[in-house]
Amino acid sequence: MNIIAIANQKGGVGKTTITINLGAALAEADLRILLVDLDPQGHLTEGLGLSEPEGDETLAAALLGRTSLPVDMLTVSHECGVDIIPASLGLFLTERDLVHLRGREYRLMRVFEPLEDRYDYTLIDCPPTLGQLTDNALVAARKALVPIQPEDTSLRALEMLLDQIHSIRDGLGLTVDIVGLVVNQADDTLVARRTLETLTKAVPVPILASIRRRVRLKEAWAAGKPVTMTEPTGDTAEAFRGLAQAIMQQRKEVTA
Ligand SMILES: Nc1ncnc2c1ncn2[C@@H]1O[C@H](COP(=O)(O)OP(=O)(O)OP(=O)(O)O)[C@@H](O)[C@H]1O
Ligand SMILES: [Mg+2]
Repeated sequence: MNIIAIANQKGGVGKTTITINLGAALAEADLRILLVDLDPQGHLTEGLGLSEPEGDETLAAALLGRTSLPVDMLTVSHECGVDIIPASLGLFLTERDLVHLRGREYRLMRVFEPLEDRYDYTLIDCPPTLGQLTDNALVAARKALVPIQPEDTSLRALEMLLDQIHSIRDGLGLTVDIVGLVVNQADDTLVARRTLETLTKAVPVPILASIRRRVRLKEAWAAGKPVTMTEPTGDTAEAFRGLAQAIMQQRKEVTA
């Protein structure tokens, strides 16, 4: 299974927006897609118009070993063609409770094991922290896609994420690759261009797509749908299709 963590501990950079719309664009290409809302804020769940599960039928309970429900019982489907494992309020406590558990970084990886090759891509929407949940996402995925905004503070955020990836390598002996950056709320200003140049010099990973600031992304979110459904012929939907192509191309290169 091809798993990608959409990660950046900097808040509000577009992790959830990119997870939803990249997932929908990959589903349009007839791929089997699972989206995982690993953020206690539950924004991905909300942005696809879904309600949060309660009781033990949650990802939170599965991570803590408090349910024997198979993982496929945790998924729900969306009309855009993706399956979702929604968040629940309990994920707030999971972050705290995982600290005390043996094999805490491998919990999500274990939850995914029964899914094997049921999906072509699993995208994990990470919370804006570098805590237990993000560690679990990076360990399960071993690949990160990093949304950034072209501003000064992005470099520091990227350096912190790299530090975390290095600590996973040193502590657990696992490599995590940054597969690329997605520039979100991109402006075509001189300052933005210079910032991006500095950033890609410091962290040499490819920019896979640039998504412009578009109010239609907020409108799609409010409608509980990806922009590929609400405005299928617009430039934003096209930008996400381009990102989907770049992700699929990387996979071809790896398997070739
Ligand atoms: N390209 C864009 N154009 C316009 N609005 C955008 C764009 N990308 C994201 N937004 C809006 O910006 C806000 C933050 O985006 P989003 O929730 O995707 O970021 P995030 O990184 O997941 O945030 P958090 O760190 O809180 O999880 C949302 O209201 C979203 O609708
Ligand atoms: Mg988010």
